[in-house]
Amino acid sequence: MSTRTSIHGAWSGRLAFILAATGSAVGLGNIWKFPYITGENGGGAFVLIYLICIACIGIPIMMAEVMLGRRGRQSPINTMQALAEEASASPYWKYLGWSGVVAGLLILSYYSVIAGWALAYVFRTASGVFTNVTGDGASSLFGRFIADPEKLLAWHTLFMVMTMAVVARGVKGGLEKAVRFLMPTLFVILIILLGYAMNLGEFSRGVAFLFNPDFSKISADGVLSAMGHAFFTLSLGMGAIMVYGSYLPANVSIAKTSIIIAVMDTLVALVAGLIIFPIVFANGLEPGAGPGLIFQTLPIAFGHMPGGEFFGTLFFVLLVFAAWTSSISLIEPAVAWLVENRGHTRVYAAVVMGIVTWSLGLLTVLSFNLWSDFKPLSGISVFENSTLFDLLDYLTANIMLPIGGLLIAIFVSRIMTSDITMRELNIQDSQHAGYRTWQFLTKYIAPAAVVIVFLKVTGIFDITVIFNAILG
Ligand code: TRP
Repeated sequence: MSTRTSIHGAWSGRLAFILAATGSAVGLGNIWKFPYITGENGGGAFVLIYLICIACIGIPIMMAEVMLGRRGRQSPINTMQALAEEASASPYWKYLGWSGVVAGLLILSYYSVIAGWALAYVFRTASGVFTNVTGDGASSLFGRFIADPEKLLAWHTLFMVMTMAVVARGVKGGLEKAVRFLMPTLFVILIILLGYAMNLGEFSRGVAFLFNPDFSKISADGVLSAMGHAFFTLSLGMGAIMVYGSYLPANVSIAKTSIIIAVMDTLVALVAGLIIFPIVFANGLEPGAGPGLIFQTLPIAFGHMPGGEFFGTLFFVLLVFAAWTSSISLIEPAVAWLVENRGHTRVYAAVVMGIVTWSLGLLTVLSFNLWSDFKPLSGISVFENSTLFDLLDYLTANIMLPIGGLLIAIFVSRIMTSDITMRELNIQDSQHAGYRTWQFLTKYIAPAAVVIVFLKVTGIFDITVIFNAILG
């Protein structure tokens, strides 16, 4: 095991790491994004491909990231540099850390705006505006809300301040304290809401929509979205899990904790789907409504159910909590780097990075109103209707994260020696079945999957040929 220690401190133990990493993984991705992209991509087939990606690409790459972080014990940039040096590999590997820092800031810039919507909806639901609201009413309330750049800006600003306040306090005092309280609360609220959804008449339709795959409904771009979302939802491909791994005590099992985190994250997404789609169907709503899905549909349900004000408020509180514990991990790599390389205090580093991200967030704020007709890449058919927000989301989730993941997989399986990876995974026998599987997945399957999906989307290579060959 490496003997480095992190200058930023460490988690107090395995449970703290699991809570923090699960807090990072479980977020808007599970509760806001998973349902709306599942709705846009037709349901079951998309979910199945997403689940396969989690198991075959997500878990092995999560193990890889935790391992790199724990061995390097620094921000992703310096970790990649140190580990490349240790392996006598190209110093350019540190740019993998850099692209992760950039991806994290780009993601947080729009993530914070959406989290701001959730914040606003806590107060709206609590104040009773949705009582007996109609479908049109909920849509027009949402439409008027996002049409107002000042409101979006105000909530985005508040959410960024909340994020920076935690990050500024550091690993033990800030991040760990926040997740210890927030994660358990989140699970309790989810269970209560699931109970509500199960008592709706349309629960079985929601189940069928999520779990009956219809492959005619999914395109190559849908497959890319499913894969991109596997990275996004597990916080992989940009160094967030790597930086959390750098605070992990040496004696904790990387494989076990990674599997626990991935399973919990997947459960939360599926439970969110099981809560949201029955409500969508019970109210004759549209599953493919896009980013506004939960904000346009859930208020109707909450407006009509007994105790809806209470449950609705609880739901949006949950969403804010989930987003909060994720957003801190999106900016932690950048903050850790500023502290390490520029000698700034955490507080200063957090403020600087917060201001950068907040400013970038203006692009997303404006995408929903003043610039909603600005579609810079409308000449390309997949981007025909894409606003700046859509493009930022696509660039980060569907391109930067999979490429980051691909390079991480290559690094652990082809650059680091199996001596080192075996030691980090606490494996004595190189023929150990679990170890062999991990090696196979990181060396061949994950890189091949990313490359093939990219080639297919760009139209260079037709994956259907392979599918047809396998399926007969
Ligand atoms: N995983 C979080 C979610 O599902 C978002 C997130 C946090 C993330 N950190 C990340 C996404 C790092 C990609 C990379 O909401």
